[in-house]
Amino acid sequence: MKVTIKSPLDMHLHLRDKEMLKVVAPLSAKSFCAAIIMPNLVPPVTTIEDVVAYKKRILDAIGKENFEPLMTLFFKNSYTYEFLKKAKEHIVGIKLYPSGATTNSEGGVSSMDIEELKETFTAMSELNIPLLVHGETDGFVMDREAEFGSVYEQFATNFPKLKIIMEHITTKNSVDLLDKYDNLYATITVQHLFITLDDVAGGMLKPHLFCKPIAKRYEDREALLKVALSGHPKVMFGSDSAPHPIDKKECCGCAAGVFTAPIALQALAGLFEKNGKLENLQTFVSDNAQRIYGYSPTCKDIELTKEPFIVPSSYEDVVPMFADETLSWSITSIV
Ligand code: DOR
Ligand code: ZN
Repeated sequence: MKVTIKSPLDMHLHLRDKEMLKVVAPLSAKSFCAAIIMPNLVPPVTTIEDVVAYKKRILDAIGKENFEPLMTLFFKNSYTYEFLKKAKEHIVGIKLYPSGATTNSEGGVSSMDIEELKETFTAMSELNIPLLVHGETDGFVMDREAEFGSVYEQFATNFPKLKIIMEHITTKNSVDLLDKYDNLYATITVQHLFITLDDVAGGMLKPHLFCKPIAKRYEDREALLKVALSGHPKVMFGSDSAPHPIDKKECCGCAAGVFTAPIALQALAGLFEKNGKLENLQTFVSDNAQRIYGYSPTCKDIELTKEPFIVPSSYEDVVPMFADETLSWSITSIV
C-alpha cells in the first residue's frame, strides 16, 4: 500500500540554532516542503534583521534540499503599524507566548489585556498578518489550555479580521472553539494524536513525551483525532517538533518538547490508515494550511509505503518520539 503526499507542510516547528540547527534542519527539510519556524531563540527573534539572519542560517544548514523556512516574529506589543508593514514581506505570522508559559518564553506577554495588545493586533489585522498563539494560562497544568479559551474568545470577538491560530491544541474545549468563531484556526501535533497523560506519567515517567501543553485526557485525544482524521478545514498539521539534547531531557528538571520531525509523516500515515482515513492525510498535512495561509508551494512529493521503519534511537544527541520502535510506514521516495 502506498500514498503520495504533495508538498507536505509543517505549520509549527522549532529548529533552534547553532549545532542543534545543523542536526535537525536537514531532517525536516527531507520530509517537508516548508515549515513555519518558531522564534523562541535566546534572545528571541524580534527584529527584521533577526528574521533575515535566522532564515539565512537555516538555509545554510539545509544545504541543497528544497525547503522553505516560513519565518515568524516573537510577539511584542511594542510592534507598530510602520514596523509591521516593513516586516510583512519577511514573515508569515507572529507568535505570541504568555511570559514563562514554555521554553524560552520569558520575554513573552505578561498580560492578555486587550487594551495593551490593541495597537499591534489592529495593525496585524489591517496588514493581514496571522497571530499564532501558545494558549496556556499559569493555572493548574491540566486546565491551562481550557482556561485560555476565554482569552481566545476575546481575541476572536474583538479582532474579527485577525486570523488567529490556536497552536498545538490538546483539548476538546479548543476543538469546540473552531466552529464557534470564523477567525479561529488550529494546529495539531503528532504526539497529541497518539498519547494522553497516561503515556507521559501514568507508568514510568517518559521524559521524551513531556511537552507543553502536556498531553491530556482520552476524551481530548478523541476530539483531536476526530477533526484531524476528518480533514476539518480549519485544522492543520504543526509538529511542534521541539528538540532538546538528551542531557536536558533525561535529567532532574526535564525540558519540555517532543522531537518528531523525522518520524512525523510515517507515524501519521499509520494513524490515518488504521482509522480508514488515508484519503484525508493530504488535507491535514498540506491542503488546509495552503488555503488558510494563502501559501502555494510547488515543491516535493513524498511517497510513503506500508513497509517497516525502525525509528533510530537518536539523531546525534536528540531522541525522537517512537525511538527504537517499528512504525508500519516508511518514506520510500521523494520527488
Ligand atoms: O513542549 C514545548 N516545547 N512546547 C513549547 O511550546 C515550546 C517547545 C520548545 O521550544 O522546546
Ligand atoms: Zn512550539
